[in-house]
Amino acid sequence: MPDLRLAIFASGAGSNLRAIHAATERDDLAARVALVISNNSKSGALAFAREHDIPAAHISGKTHENPTQAILDALAAHAIDVVVLAGYMKRIAPELIDAFPERIVNVHPAPLPRFGGRGMFGQHVHAAVLESGVDVSGPTVHMVTGDYDEGEILAHSEVPVFADDDIDSLEERVKRAEHDLYWRVIAKRFC
Ligand code: GRF
Repeated sequence: MPDLRLAIFASGAGSNLRAIHAATERDDLAARVALVISNNSKSGALAFAREHDIPAAHISGKTHENPTQAILDALAAHAIDVVVLAGYMKRIAPELIDAFPERIVNVHPAPLPRFGGRGMFGQHVHAAVLESGVDVSGPTVHMVTGDYDEGEILAHSEVPVFADDDIDSLEERVKRAEHDLYWRVIAKRFC
């Protein structure tokens, strides 16, 4: 029985959640997805968790008077070791960062620090990469601190940017790289 208990925070499709879960099922990653938290009741991430009997919580400013406390309570109740942000669109509260020092990681869909910072989320990131004219992009996994995209960089992998790429084609290529990279970084850092 693997010891490392992961909580995955996701707001959207949840493809990174699926990839990490698959790595645990294959025993490539000696961990368990012990909890999924989403601020979005309609997220693919929550649907996936329900389909796979993974404990899941919908926590937002609408569902809870104090979402930060609700998140802290859920993490404690499920004995979570590491928080994995995978397309989570909410700011991480300082209380949460203090409760999990060096134990919160994020994947950003482009090189950091160049394509990070305020406003650099979702498809804005790929739009900025395309506008810049660079011919290489790719995901960056980093530790989460109080500042956006500022924590220690743990890994980066490269994907080409083609002249005829649009946001969707670049996003898809970067996501494939994320799916291959993220679980390996979690394994290396925490297992
Ligand atoms: C990924 O591209 C990730 O880099 C970014 O949000 C996206 C989440 O995608 N932080 P998914 O929900 O895992 O499919």
